[in-house]
Amino acid sequence: MKILFATSEIAPWVKTGGLGDVAGALPAALRAGGHDVRVLVPAYPALLKSFPGAAEIARPHWLGGLLPTPGLREAVAPDGTPLLLLDYAPYFARAGNPYLGPEGRDWLDNHLRFGLLSRVAAWIGSEASTLDWQPDVIHCHDWQTGLAPAYLNYLPGRLAKSLFTVHNLAFQGLFDHASLFELGLPDAAWGMHGVEFYGYLSFLKAGLQHADSISTVSPSYAREIQTDEEGMGMAGLLRHRSGQLSGILNGIDTTLWNPATDPHLERTYSARHPEGKAANKAALQAQLGLEPRPDLPLLAVVSRLTEQKGLDLLLDMAPQILKTPAQLVVLGSGGPALEHGFTALAHKHKSRCAVTIGFDEALAHRIEAGADIFLMPSRFEPCGLNQMYSLRYGTPPLVRATGGLADTVIDAADTRHGNGFVFAPATTEALLQAVQRAIAAWHDPVRWRSLQKRGMARDSSWEGAARHYAALYASL
Ligand code: ADP
Ligand code: GLC
Repeated sequence: MKILFATSEIAPWVKTGGLGDVAGALPAALRAGGHDVRVLVPAYPALLKSFPGAAEIARPHWLGGLLPTPGLREAVAPDGTPLLLLDYAPYFARAGNPYLGPEGRDWLDNHLRFGLLSRVAAWIGSEASTLDWQPDVIHCHDWQTGLAPAYLNYLPGRLAKSLFTVHNLAFQGLFDHASLFELGLPDAAWGMHGVEFYGYLSFLKAGLQHADSISTVSPSYAREIQTDEEGMGMAGLLRHRSGQLSGILNGIDTTLWNPATDPHLERTYSARHPEGKAANKAALQAQLGLEPRPDLPLLAVVSRLTEQKGLDLLLDMAPQILKTPAQLVVLGSGGPALEHGFTALAHKHKSRCAVTIGFDEALAHRIEAGADIFLMPSRFEPCGLNQMYSLRYGTPPLVRATGGLADTVIDAADTRHGNGFVFAPATTEALLQAVQRAIAAWHDPVRWRSLQKRGMARDSSWEGAARHYAALYASL
């Protein structure tokens, strides 16, 4: 099958979270299964720099509303995946984060930037396309490409079917009514059965409403979002479309995230030869200025610092954990309250706690390898990738039982299958109890070893998910 991925992020070039990881790895897994997958992504500076020779192969005209005429450039990723770079410098030649301006606020023209991405995806899937390649299915990811199924719905001569994957229901792409005209959508698209969501235009709602099929990134999250408590206003629509809604658990890039070959590590290691892990812990402690203490459990977080991730719970009880005694390493960026809170914590407990505010891929790898226990107390988590990286790196994850975390981590109380620690209520007390349980288990080396081994043996590759996606495309 011929599949067009439409995405606003792609690792390793442009990534703010797991969406980038997925778009960077799933196409190759599908291609290994014999499918012709190409990826449409904005030509951000990082991509243009990596592919300076990318030649223009088309200029989609007359896209409607205020949408400009962009160029489409062709490149090939190192893994062989063809990329279609959506080139319109006034929209995409901007430094930094794809969504936020220098002050940390959304770019004011995000509706046009991602409307253009959606519109060009639909163009490629329609008769208007001048490309010599016609996709059978357009696979859209998150609100940034949610308008593509809506455009396909209103375009004459539509040729492709659409699949809309929800990586996070919390990001809804809400814009005011005037953007309907600016985006070249017909008046008929306004309303409860179109792209309107309580007086706003919602890219997310548009995707949920118009895609031929909807998926999300874990079976548990697919169930949770159909409940009023966790459906973020979309539960009714999702229940209505439950026949076309499925949950496919993400995989991870097992080449990039492999402790046996990871170039970022102090020393590589594997389940059969785990000795090197200790050197990574010592190196991490040294790099971050922590006391060199092999005898203390080292807990870690790598995360966006947002309400979703439940890290306010961790901040509340961290002083108690550090006293246990234990060490804590945090790498993340996001909301000012959490950034300041964790920075202050590190100042107060210099030998036991190190906090790095920012986005640092290399450090993320070194933390996965150097830590003993990885913390993800998320309030909700569509899938979560770091718990799978942690399993693979012999760093048992401690997670809240939600979404993809519940689908990948089994509590150590199950002595045959346990690979981590799971708690349920989103409270400081429940988190503290789970951490105390994990630390007690860490102090029992025989038990810990078998827990690590089971985690490291888990198959988190993309193969299984790729088969599910292929079946879903075929059904369309
Ligand atoms: P989400 O997409 O909700 O942020 P995931 O667990 O799916 O959560 O994916 C997060 C990805 O982003 C992981 O690859 C993680 O390592 C990475 N990441 C998050 N914050 C940082 C950071 N501050 N520095 C480096 N990598 C980060
Ligand atoms: C989102 C979710 C995360 C998921 C990722 C990739 O950002 O928050 O749970 O792993 O997308 O699907």
